[in-house]
Amino acid sequence: MEKQINAKKAAVIGCGFVGSAIAFTLMQSRLFTELVLLDANFDKADGEAKDIAHGIPFSGQMKIYAGTYDDVADAAIIIVTAGANQKPEETRLDLVNKNVAVYKSIIPEIAQREFQGILLVVSNPVDILTYAAVKIGGFPEQRVLGSGTVLDTARLKCVLSEHLRVDSRSVHAFIIGEHGDSEIAAWSSANVSGVPVDDFCEMRGHFNHEEAMDEIAEKVKDSAYEIISKKRATYYGIAMAVKRICECIVRDEKSILPISSIQHGNYGMEGIALSMPAVVGMNGVEAHVPVSLDEEEMELLKHSADTLKEVIGSLDL
Ligand code: LAC
Repeated sequence: MEKQINAKKAAVIGCGFVGSAIAFTLMQSRLFTELVLLDANFDKADGEAKDIAHGIPFSGQMKIYAGTYDDVADAAIIIVTAGANQKPEETRLDLVNKNVAVYKSIIPEIAQREFQGILLVVSNPVDILTYAAVKIGGFPEQRVLGSGTVLDTARLKCVLSEHLRVDSRSVHAFIIGEHGDSEIAAWSSANVSGVPVDDFCEMRGHFNHEEAMDEIAEKVKDSAYEIISKKRATYYGIAMAVKRICECIVRDEKSILPISSIQHGNYGMEGIALSMPAVVGMNGVEAHVPVSLDEEEMELLKHSADTLKEVIGSLDL
């Protein structure tokens, strides 16, 4: 029998830096009236819930509490941040064995309770864990998505907006592929309110496009490494990215976001999850959007897909 879903309820599994920042951000977003926090260390989840709950009078009535897997089955969205995070110099893919093992303990607990909502994977390597969650949990692919390159795309817009002296919300460009070292900036479709990015650069007095774009893409790709070397973890940016994805699902916005999801044939990609622009709504991934890529971008996307496929091939899922 189909489980009743509480459309105003979310759960966060993992209350470390990222999970607690997401919980705090979601409380202030007022997207939900009930937020359940889970962690292997119950006291950690309970402490975060109590601390955030004391802000409710300033934000708006809701319930936020530490719970168990029995409390999350009817959530509209379960956000999984559990697992190790990158240490300085560590790549996201370096975390794969540790965090696949964590997911092998978490995902069955969710699946056993016939969870019918949307599973939002945030832990890294997010593309591998998005794929793993579908395989381990047996969930419909449409209902499993990863935060993917939503944050990287925001970083790209941020850096480009400074370079071009425009509002970042007027910059339309995607980072696609792996949320990691093989990610790709899709420059050939990048624009500023419809003006191709190279033309807008010239309008702003920049003419050495190739060098500038390479520098910007590198800066975006290395953002997390820089922040982790300075403050041990990233969490505010990813929390805002997760809030944006939740907003899109809860409000059934059908916005186009570069979330990570299992690919079927797009650009010849099969049997992996990575980030491509997709229409996201209350049912999760509603459609993949065929973003136009030039030859070089297609090559780089194939390399990113092959990188992830090789890692998946080494796993026992
Ligand atoms: C980052 C983490 C979320 O890029 O992977 O900050």
